[in-house]
Order: sequence, then C-alpha cells, then structure tokens
Amino acid sequence: MFPRNFAWGAATAAYQIEGGWQADEKGLSIWDTFCHEKGRVFGEQNGDVACNSYELWEKDLACIQQLGLTHYRLSLSWARLLPDGTTRHVNQKGVEYYNKVIDDLLACNVSPMITLYHFDLPQALQDQGGWLSPSIATLFDNYAKFCFQTFGDRVKLWITINEPYVCAKLGHEDGIHAPGLKEKGTAAYVVGHNMLRAHAMAWHSYNLGYRAKQRGGVSLALNSDWFEPLDGGSSEDAAAAERALAFTLGWFAWPVFVTGDYPERMQCAIDTQSSRLGYAGVSRLPKFSEDDPTVLGTADFFALNYYTSRKVKAGGGREQMLSMKCDRDAEDVLDPSWPVCGVSWLAVVPRGLRKLLQYIKDTFSNPAVYITENGFAQTGPLQIEDVQRCDFYKSTISEVAKAINEDGVNVCGYFAWSLMDNFEWADGFSVRFGLFHVDFSDAKLSRTMYRSGQEYARTISSYRSGK
Ligand code: GAL
Repeated sequence: MFPRNFAWGAATAAYQIEGGWQADEKGLSIWDTFCHEKGRVFGEQNGDVACNSYELWEKDLACIQQLGLTHYRLSLSWARLLPDGTTRHVNQKGVEYYNKVIDDLLACNVSPMITLYHFDLPQALQDQGGWLSPSIATLFDNYAKFCFQTFGDRVKLWITINEPYVCAKLGHEDGIHAPGLKEKGTAAYVVGHNMLRAHAMAWHSYNLGYRAKQRGGVSLALNSDWFEPLDGGSSEDAAAAERALAFTLGWFAWPVFVTGDYPERMQCAIDTQSSRLGYAGVSRLPKFSEDDPTVLGTADFFALNYYTSRKVKAGGGREQMLSMKCDRDAEDVLDPSWPVCGVSWLAVVPRGLRKLLQYIKDTFSNPAVYITENGFAQTGPLQIEDVQRCDFYKSTISEVAKAINEDGVNVCGYFAWSLMDNFEWADGFSVRFGLFHVDFSDAKLSRTMYRSGQEYARTISSYRSGK
C-alpha cells in the first residue's frame, strides 16, 4: 500500500521547540523580539524555553524512537548558528548542537530533513529591512551554503524556506506573525518575491557546489488549503476557487514548477484591482530580473504542508482598498458538515488532501511529493486519549494511500505536525498539535505519548513490516 522506502516522519521547528533563546552566543530572531512585545501572543507567552529541546534533545530523540520514525523534519535557527545573520561570526556551540542532533538521528537510523528557515529571521537582518530588502537573497544564500558545507555530508533532504505564503501574508500583511507589519496589498508580494529569489539562489548553490558530492535534494515547503467552488454549477465560484489556489499555492509553485513567473490569474487579479483603485500601470507584483538566477526548475521534489480545505465563492474584493484579500476577490466559506478541531481555521477534511495531491500531480508534471506537514490540533481540556486525532490520522493516511494507489500520485513521505506539543506562534501553548503531550507547567517538561502517537507508531510499524 505504501512504497517500501516511504518516509514516515514527524516535524518540528526551531523556535517552536528549542528554547535557549539566549543560550551561548545565539543572536535574537524576529520571534524573540515579537513575543516580548505586549499583546502579540496569546497570554503574553513566548518561546524563551518552549520544549527546551536545546537542552533536552535526548528526550526528543526518545520520542522519535518510540514512534519508529524513519525521518525527522527539524529546522535550524539561523540566529543560533550565525548570531548576526552573516557568516562573519559563527556560534560554534550552535554548530555542535545541530551536529549532535544529526549524528544521533543517523545513529538511530532516522534520516533528517532540514528546513533552513522556519519563520525566525535573525533580528540583525530584520533591522536592515528583512525580507523586504532585495539583499536578503544573498544573505540567505550565504547562510544556506554555510549549512550545506557544515551539515550536508549527512543531510540529504533540504527545505530552504517553510511556507513563504505564511511569512509574507501573516508577517507583513496581517501583522499577526513576526515581524508584525501590516503593509496591506504591497509588502507581502515583495517578501514573497525575495523569498523566491533567496530560495532559487540557494538551490543553484547546492546544484553547482554540493549536489555531485552530497547527493541530496532541495525544495521549499508550500502550504495550501484545498479550495473548491461553493456552488459547483457556478462558473464565477469556479473561477474564484482557481484564484484562491493561484494566490496560495500558485504564487510560489508556478514560478518554481511551471513558468518561472507568477500565475497569470494572480497577476491579472492584482492588476485589475490596481486599476480599479487608480494605480494602473504600476504592478504591485514584482518582476523577476535577468540578473537573478532563474527560479524555474529549482525544486528536486514538491514539499506540501496541508491542513484544511475551503469552499469558495466569488466576491470579497469589491471594497475600495489595497489588500491581498481584495486582490484575491474570493471568499472562503467553511462547509458546516466539516468538523472543526481546536482552532477555528482548522476544518478537518482529509479527502481535501487527496484532491490537492491529484491537482499537484496534474498541474506540476507529476513530481515526487513529500507531505512535509499535516496535523490536528487540540485546545484544552487536553485528552491523552485523543480519539478524534486518532481518527483524523487514520482517515488522512488512508486518503494518502488512495492518492498513491488509485490516483498514481508519487507521494514519497508523510510528516505529521508535530512530534510534540510546542509553541504554536500567536496561539502560544494554547493550541496543541503533538503526538506527544508536553507538560509546560512541569520544570522537567515531561513528554507523554498521546494515544494518537501510539497509533501512528503502530501504523508505521505495520506498513514497514509489510503487513
Ligand atoms: C504551519 C507551520 C507550523 C505549525 C503549523 C500548525 O503553518 O509551518 O510551524 O505551526 O502550521 O499551525
């Protein structure tokens, strides 16, 4: 039912688990800054300690082994490795920490998948304009080369940037993620553009400088909901659903996998809204320049983060204002038959994943796909016997199996979000995605397997033993 080499994984991200925010010579990241500002995060919480994985890595490794994972996806903290974001100064303690994590994983027969950037830009680089500044691409490329050079002898799966959509939109348009900017209708497009440039530079660096020797693959992790028209018979709703997909997945997948440029639907929608507002002639979507390395073809596999689905109806963009919401001109609707878990945005729709996988196969020339994140949240009161999450994983994994066996999608791996409860960004510790419960009120931060962890472990072991 699953290919023999299928990657069974779980994922985490540095800021969400590591803590040690000032340990050794670590520099600050934009999430350190953001969380220490009043009113940014639920309950004024922060990731200063989080799961303290910086000191308790062995406990994480024990969890990974209990699950029987073949792969573990983690991210590196740029500011822990390079405190001011540049290779002028390297924090050796940070290098040692990640070396140990990687070596321990390999010693346990677990392959690391490493994300270079999971939302936590060094504050020193934010102070120079962050992702809004074109020079960030070269700085990121230098950081990426440093990581390939330092860890690439042992790491074969690389993700450059996690969810450029979320960084761009939540961080620079909505202001609910670091760096907390609300420059509507402009900044997110610039950030997305610089992220694509940065990703492409890093991919080319790997391709030219490291691939032959290290023999790994590099991609970027793209998040997308599955979108379908609210009224199946309405061509306006169908067009709105396609626009929604173009503004989420297409924004990054089109340049990388299809044309080297943004989807036409997206360009067109932005230009239409610009002329409505009297800005005709000036495109708010930046253009790729000849001086930049080409973006087309800069992914060795497709990395997808899928959580939920939406029905879409036309409209939502008619207001006279500058914003991505107006540009997108499509309204998301939750189907009342979909159960919502934990957080309000997370409608549970496992079959949406199968549809999205089929769409990826058809649209992006049948790439190798890793599902790099997928999960189910609990909000209090927490249940160790999390039967709903068990059902969720069961039906999701069966949808993935159908995608592989019936639809012929080349899915190579599945990573549950998350290995353990952790700092869920603006929701702090109130939203729990773990396969392990973490007791944040206990100084030892003890990890206890949820029932869903036990069942995931059973699933992995039965597929691996061919039963
Ligand atoms: C993703 C993100 C993860 C995690 C997850 C659950 O957008 O990459 O860090 O927080 O959502 O909300």
